[in-house]
Amino acid sequence: MGKDVIIACDFNSKHEVIRFLDKFGSKKPFVKIGMELYYSEGPQIVRDIKARGHKIFLDLKLHDIPNTVKKSMAVLSSLDVDMCNLHAAGTKAMMTAALEGLTRADGTRPLLIAVTQLTSTDQARMKEELLIERPLDEVVMHYAKCAADSGLDGVVCSPLEAAKVHAACGKDFLTVTPGVRFAGADVGDQVRVTTPAKAKELGSDYIVIGRPITASEDPVASYEKCVSEFVDC
Ligand code: C5P
Repeated sequence: MGKDVIIACDFNSKHEVIRFLDKFGSKKPFVKIGMELYYSEGPQIVRDIKARGHKIFLDLKLHDIPNTVKKSMAVLSSLDVDMCNLHAAGTKAMMTAALEGLTRADGTRPLLIAVTQLTSTDQARMKEELLIERPLDEVVMHYAKCAADSGLDGVVCSPLEAAKVHAACGKDFLTVTPGVRFAGADVGDQVRVTTPAKAKELGSDYIVIGRPITASEDPVASYEKCVSEFVDC
């Protein structure tokens, strides 16, 4: 599986995202479409960006009863996205149903990645509100293993957890890692960050990077710097 840089296109309108992607000319980076853009523009934004030649990670984090997730995944699969995701907390029954829904008549399907615990959930909230007593990192690894057992392709995690995930779930189990910043740059609201080069060294398969590219004065140069550190070196 080739390593790649995924740009988090956290814009809230088609106009803004297309203006951004136009800057890349004939280059077609892998892009992440999140809830904000999807809910403001609807499924047509996926078709539009796909038609321009980009690979798409549709980050909608599904979590519902297995039957609902299965049918919804079939819809996302028909949009021809390359990667989508769900919450591992939906249980193995939901994850296997999701895979069934995603699989097209010809046997192909988008990659399916699990969210373990959101990074906004800390140990105290997990214990007090979710009544989960075990240590957070143990919970994250357990959810990753449940995702692997269910046949999913990988998890979203920190680059700092990539090696642990690969050790527990196999080297081919994908680690899709946000929290990436260039050396010496403003980290914004991210807390535990690594550079693209460090993410590569730690074993990340895909890095998801937003503002260091989207808010850059020269987004194409920033993207290329990221690719040269993470993919080409
Ligand atoms: O702009 P920035 O590089 O921080 O964007 C990172 C992207 O990855 C955002 O779309 C954010 O929602 C997403 N993400 C994250 N941390 C997670 C999961 C997803 O930053 N744990």
